[in-house]
Amino acid sequence: MAQEKINRVVLVGTGFVGSSYAFALMNQGIADELILIDANAEKALGDVMDLNHGKVFAPNPTAIRLGDYEDCKHADLVVICAGANQKKGETRLDLVSKNLKIFKEITESVMKSGFDGIFLVATNPVDILTYATWKYSGLPQEKVIGSGTILDTSRFRYLLGDYFKIAPNNVHAYIIGEHGDSELPVYSTADVGGIPVMKMIERNSTYKKEDLDEIFKNVRDAAYQIIERKGATYYGIAMGLVRITRAIFHNENCVLTVSARLDGQYGESDVYIGVPAVINRDGIREIVELDLSADEQSKFRRSAGVLKEILA
Ligand code: 2OP
Repeated sequence: MAQEKINRVVLVGTGFVGSSYAFALMNQGIADELILIDANAEKALGDVMDLNHGKVFAPNPTAIRLGDYEDCKHADLVVICAGANQKKGETRLDLVSKNLKIFKEITESVMKSGFDGIFLVATNPVDILTYATWKYSGLPQEKVIGSGTILDTSRFRYLLGDYFKIAPNNVHAYIIGEHGDSELPVYSTADVGGIPVMKMIERNSTYKKEDLDEIFKNVRDAAYQIIERKGATYYGIAMGLVRITRAIFHNENCVLTVSARLDGQYGESDVYIGVPAVINRDGIREIVELDLSADEQSKFRRSAGVLKEILA
């Protein structure tokens, strides 16, 4: 009898982001098997027990257990949430040297197992660490995905939806560039229920461009605002990671703003950066090249420049 295809995820790093991802993944019933790895195996085992105790309430049974890097051999997806996170007053880029070292060890351990699936990276600075994962792993670029600006885009859609009093699912707008201080909003393609955002402003004097600028600032600075209050951010990013996982396992061909390696798109090459991309079972099928305005293009170039400087 032919064996049924199992969707197997290995999660490396069960801190706030990793354990929230595990919880969200289980609640959405997307994976058949979820294997947890953490430098602190006792903590990971505690998570395994805790999650399994909620199993009867989940929509589909997810087999959850503690594992090690050997388990990556048969994984379809390895999600990396390990590493240090931002402290108050730190930028994402401040974390680079600490987390690069951890990532080299993790990627090498995963690859030693014979892993041939997709990497999904969430640790900050995510664009740099996704590039590092691609380099260290030797996997094709379409198999290495970073969470990029998926969360920033979600924050943007939520705040625009709130402003225009339209459900965020009907707001189509992207944040692109570095997942960090140099990111930018793309207004030239943004629409609310099919009406371009800029038209909404022209048509109705209660809406103002200054308010949109304020909305973008709140998106860009959201992590700082949350870290100031509760020390870390994790629910939003965890749900974004589950969204990408679903796009992969359900072979959705859906467009999500992830960190992808550019090969000439947007006039940039050899950099991982947040752009809309078509995601399916094979990973990144293709990058969507938006028609940016001259101003957006120049901000994007600046953002890519910030990342390239660190990569160099
Ligand atoms: C966030 O944007 C800190 O990158 C994390 O919430």
